[in-house]
Amino acid sequence: MNTEVKQNIKRPIVLSGVKPTGIPTLGNYLGALKNFAKLQNEMTNYDFYIFVADLHAITVPQNPKELKQNIRNVAALYLACGLEPERLVLFLQSEVHEHAELGYVMQSISYMGELERMTQFKDKVAKNMTQGVTSALFTYPTLMAADILLYDAKYVPVGDDQMQHLELTRDLGTRFNNRFGNTFNIPECLVTKQGSRIMDLQDPTKKMSKSENENKGCIFLLEPLNSIKKKIKSAVTDSEASVHYDKVNKPGISNLMTIYSSLTNKSFKEIEAEFVGCNYGTFKTKVADAVVELLTKIQSKYNEIVNGDLVNKVLDEGIKKVLPLSKN
Ligand code: TYM
Repeated sequence: MNTEVKQNIKRPIVLSGVKPTGIPTLGNYLGALKNFAKLQNEMTNYDFYIFVADLHAITVPQNPKELKQNIRNVAALYLACGLEPERLVLFLQSEVHEHAELGYVMQSISYMGELERMTQFKDKVAKNMTQGVTSALFTYPTLMAADILLYDAKYVPVGDDQMQHLELTRDLGTRFNNRFGNTFNIPECLVTKQGSRIMDLQDPTKKMSKSENENKGCIFLLEPLNSIKKKIKSAVTDSEASVHYDKVNKPGISNLMTIYSSLTNKSFKEIEAEFVGCNYGTFKTKVADAVVELLTKIQSKYNEIVNGDLVNKVLDEGIKKVLPLSKN
């Protein structure tokens, strides 16, 4: 972006995105979406640039019809999860071609070695071996760097798994500035204290992820409430029958405690005290109730807006604000 364009940006920017690959999960909510809404309430002097990362979605194979619906779902879920339309600049990544252009520039200043070190790439390669690994999956972090640097974003709220990509973004921004003169703001990562890494309910050593083939360990935001209750009740725990936080020896219970804590704002100590002498069944019922209470609200708001005009209106307004920034 040139100086003239930078002058068009009146207020500092908080920027983030979610990939429309399937329905967002409870992990996406607790690690990212919930935080976007909370920060929007707290950081009243900032503009919130929140987009649907549809170019990142196609780094793995997509069914075009489903992708279209998923894009709309993510846009509607941003609003259903509490982002205020008035202060939200919402847009689709693919509608601003400068993301891909700057992504290419970022590829030209990044090294194979640093992209090969990305944990998310290594994990995805392991999962996608049978389908083939696209070169776009390899350069995923350079596009992400472009998404952020293009707008001179000041803060980027993300879950724990994206911190390495944020570090690379900072490295690439600094490298570009050193080589070609001060051009980009170097962004900072904002990670929520509680819930930045929600684990799979069936294998609590793995991150909860919508791309898992077996979905029993993953809660989707638009899933029927009964199915959610069932998944929480059959979450893997341990044989100790004592609710206390110990991530190494009790990863299943610690994960459920993290979910419960994020939803109720209770500390681990308070949760331990609440469930002294209780069996895991009682604890799981309480966790399930808290998740169901939240998702009842989100789903009803989502149903109200998904087929109405609000999503289109916010997207239209968003792109009007974004395009002049990139066109100059
Ligand atoms: P995506 O769709 O994979 O994840 C969206 C957000 O959800 C967080 N997240 C989690 N948080 C806690 N526990 C989990 N189990 C969990 N799973 C996912 C992610 O950290 C993320 O914040 N690459 C981004 C999309 C993106 C982006 C950007 C974000 C593209 N360009 C620029 C910020 C800035 C991603 O991970 O999407």
